[in-house]
Amino acid sequence: MIIPKPTADTSDFETLARRVDEAIAAIAGLDEPAKARATDLKDAIEAFHKLALTRMVRALKADPRGKELLFDMVDAPEIRALLTMHGILRADPLTRATRALETVKPYVQSHGGDVELVRLEGDTAVVRLSGACQGCSLSAVTLRDSVTEALKAQVPEIARVELAEPEPDLIPLDSLFAAPTATGWVEGPLASEVSPSRGFRLALDGPAGERSVVIFRIGETLSAFHNQCAHQGLPIDGGLIDPTGGTVTCPWHGFCFDAKTGECLTAPEAQLEPLPLQVRDGRVFVRVDGR
Ligand code: FES
Repeated sequence: MIIPKPTADTSDFETLARRVDEAIAAIAGLDEPAKARATDLKDAIEAFHKLALTRMVRALKADPRGKELLFDMVDAPEIRALLTMHGILRADPLTRATRALETVKPYVQSHGGDVELVRLEGDTAVVRLSGACQGCSLSAVTLRDSVTEALKAQVPEIARVELAEPEPDLIPLDSLFAAPTATGWVEGPLASEVSPSRGFRLALDGPAGERSVVIFRIGETLSAFHNQCAHQGLPIDGGLIDPTGGTVTCPWHGFCFDAKTGECLTAPEAQLEPLPLQVRDGRVFVRVDGR
């Protein structure tokens, strides 16, 4: 049997999406028994696809090369839409807001400024602008407007954008370095020094060391991980923490993780590598042996 090749007008993403919408609308107009039958068929096909897709994603995730391929593939809109539709991929507003800022950052930086997302509170995004974005010059106002426009356009849930205070130029307190002892335990900060709004970076090879640990606080719970995102291994200590949702969003490409368990909420089965953590006499200790 010869399978006809899809033609341009039936295979592009927009056309296929429209066909699906039209078919669903047509089902809604059927009499009750036919509607139930058609809905049952649709649900069964979707469940079958979800099962197969979940297995494919798991298999890809099990192999480092497959994992890399998977992360590349989800950039394609049709693959992202398919995985999102089946609940295999979740893009939350925080992730989309982070991505929105990434799109406008090159423009802001080309004008000597910078921008970062501080938090989302309901329909309000709080951003911090620095460099040329501060003050009230014409260019600062233009840059602020561009940031606001990008956020509102790409994250419809955002109705307002507020500015956070610029950060003081101090060496951050939430950064230490320490070497593991023979037992593998590393002395970290006081538990009270771990902020709920920022990961605490604990370097293991001196202040600029490549190996580091990140400690997060969600409420009273502290958790420690190797300071490497499960996506491309870049440091995640600068990630955006959502204390309400208990998540941290990687500042590099916006993957979102459960800050207590390290489970990735953006790509199934990716995982930050957790480390044993203890609090003794108010001080945090993390065990990093085995690496
Ligand atoms: S390194 Fe890409 S999302 Fe974290």
